[in-house]
Amino acid sequence: MSQLGIRKVAVIGSGTMGHGIAEVSAMAGYDVVMVDVSQEILNKALERIRWSLGKFVERGRLSKDDVERIMGRIRTSLSIAEAVRDADIMIEAVPEDINLKKKVFAEADANAPPHAILATNTSSLPITEIAEATRRPDKVVGIHFFNPPPLMPLVEVIKGAKTSDETAKKAYEFAKSLGKEPIMVNRDVPGFIVNRILIALNSGVCLMAADGTYSVVEIDSATKYRAGLPMGIFELQDFTGIDVGYMVGLAVALRDPLLRVPCPLIEDLYKKGWLGQKSGRGFYEYKEGTYSRANIPREAGEKVDLVKVFAPAVNMAAWLLREGIATRDDIDKGVKLGLGWPKGVFEYADEFGIDNIVKALNELHAKYNYDLFKPDPLLEQMVKEGRLGQKSGRGFYEYGPGATVEFKEIILKKEPPLAWIILNRPMRLNTLTMTMMEEISKALDMLWDDKDVRVVIFRGAGDRAFSAGADVTAFAGPLHTYYFYISNRKFQEVVSKIERFPKPTIAAIDGYALGGGLELALACDFRIATDRSELGQPEINLGIIPGAGGTQRLIRYVGLGRAKELIMLGDRIKAEEAYRIGLVNRVVPKEKFEEEVRSFAMKLAQGPPIALTYAKYAINFGTQVPTDIGLMLEAAFFSMATTTKDAQEGVLAFLNRRKPEFKGE
Ligand code: COA
Repeated sequence: MSQLGIRKVAVIGSGTMGHGIAEVSAMAGYDVVMVDVSQEILNKALERIRWSLGKFVERGRLSKDDVERIMGRIRTSLSIAEAVRDADIMIEAVPEDINLKKKVFAEADANAPPHAILATNTSSLPITEIAEATRRPDKVVGIHFFNPPPLMPLVEVIKGAKTSDETAKKAYEFAKSLGKEPIMVNRDVPGFIVNRILIALNSGVCLMAADGTYSVVEIDSATKYRAGLPMGIFELQDFTGIDVGYMVGLAVALRDPLLRVPCPLIEDLYKKGWLGQKSGRGFYEYKEGTYSRANIPREAGEKVDLVKVFAPAVNMAAWLLREGIATRDDIDKGVKLGLGWPKGVFEYADEFGIDNIVKALNELHAKYNYDLFKPDPLLEQMVKEGRLGQKSGRGFYEYGPGATVEFKEIILKKEPPLAWIILNRPMRLNTLTMTMMEEISKALDMLWDDKDVRVVIFRGAGDRAFSAGADVTAFAGPLHTYYFYISNRKFQEVVSKIERFPKPTIAAIDGYALGGGLELALACDFRIATDRSELGQPEINLGIIPGAGGTQRLIRYVGLGRAKELIMLGDRIKAEEAYRIGLVNRVVPKEKFEEEVRSFAMKLAQGPPIALTYAKYAINFGTQVPTDIGLMLEAAFFSMATTTKDAQEGVLAFLNRRKPEFKGE
């Protein structure tokens, strides 16, 4: 049927994976024959396919007629020989037993036409060895679907030692024709790409949890809430099954010394029969019957060093890349689509800093002495060459020109998709002068419609203050009230310009944020402060009052009572207190400040730029007008957002269960 020359697909095995593969093949228009050992099993598989197609109907992705057409394309058979006789491709999905697989392949080889590709859906066995059971090893290939095939977009296409390029390419195109996102794996290393990286990640945290460096909950909270993984690392193991993890661990360790890192915790759970969610208990306890989720508090992971957690996964990814097993983009695509990570493993690495990754690996290696933690030569070379990731403008990825513009009193650093405006008078605690305000205004103009920049972050230079407020030396001496008034208005204009700036802004506060410094931060959309920071409106102590929006914006965040207290008592408050009353969005330990600010900003940067502008404007301007007019504003922005290309992309990505890519169109 297709240019690929594939019309008929034989799926051997109708279990969890087999029936799903049959379903997606039939959905893509192929004629499918599904084989298993009894008609009863096959009937059950057909029922499961019908149920799954029904779910697509519920979501409006298929019509009832489509379901009948798709079901009509699926035939069942009890004989491999008969099923493959006129097949163009076979996909084997029988249990992970090498001898069983070899038997299937030998029989298929003897009966399938010479042109037919024989593929295996194995997740852990060597393609090369399976191919040895046939006389056509050049036509044997791995096509590894993720569970459940109808929903998971990722497919790993794996070459065995003798797989021809033509076969691999055809398998790749076939996966694409199913609407999947294939990645190419050039050698059948145990675990291929995704599981290999996952095993490396699991191995490191397992040792750390076993020796009490961190607890299971701490690690899960950090990976889930701070790193943004869809589940905690241990939570995921409970979900897939402790027995599954244990068996896969044994299988890969057998074949690959690098992966021979025993996990005492898993072994212990396995022996106790605590197999995770399905048995009501694994790393966590689950209520019976209903689908219950592990209890992982959001704050539990604050002290976890994420660099150490991710370093083994980065090390493995670097190894895969250096060995030519997969490309950078395919590896990152693999973890994003296969594991649901918000960022690729190399993107995390660039964010953490390659030097920090190497340092963490050396520490892990010194402590646990497994080769898995020995820094890969590629990482060491990158450090030598100064390719440290985002901070040096180049790591696994390039980060634009990283233009830095030095004004007199601020620095503008562009690091697409982020830009930093650094208040640069560290010796005077970054106090605000008219020159500085004019420069901020210029910097905002430069960034206003710069398509590369999606989020702007304000921070202070030096290590003492975000800003200690207006430079009071300017207030000394007699001043004409009128001229003082209009210069204050000018000051206010710049602060308001931050509020009107079309992209999200963040004030990254480390140290003092006082007076005008706090007022500037209040005009930003978000405030993230280190735990040692102190905030306040101390003007009253000088016999004056706030002049850059303090009497207006502060109220919106903390209410009248608190605002009056801050302004009329003039006391400084600590970051924790500021968080409690809603003045800052996050309080983070100093060591994690940079990382937290970046990840917060990157999350915003991945959002739909146009909708973010509209949301910001609807909120900022809506609060200034009567509710009816605010609602009218909201409706106008709502309709404007809904008719963007990004909105189409958002809905499409949701339906296809992939991550949207917003372009600001
Ligand atoms: N304007 C001008 N200079 C300021 C300043 C301001 N708002 N805030 C601090 N500085 C100067 C200090 O005079 C000092 O200068 P010096 O080294 O030449 O003496 C320098 O910055 C460091 O400040 P210092 O007071 O020595 O540090 P500290 O750690 O003891 O105290 C603060 C820090 C922020 C608590 C204290 O400087 C302060 O209260 N500043 C005033 C804050 C304020 O009222 N802001 C609102 C202005 S409208």
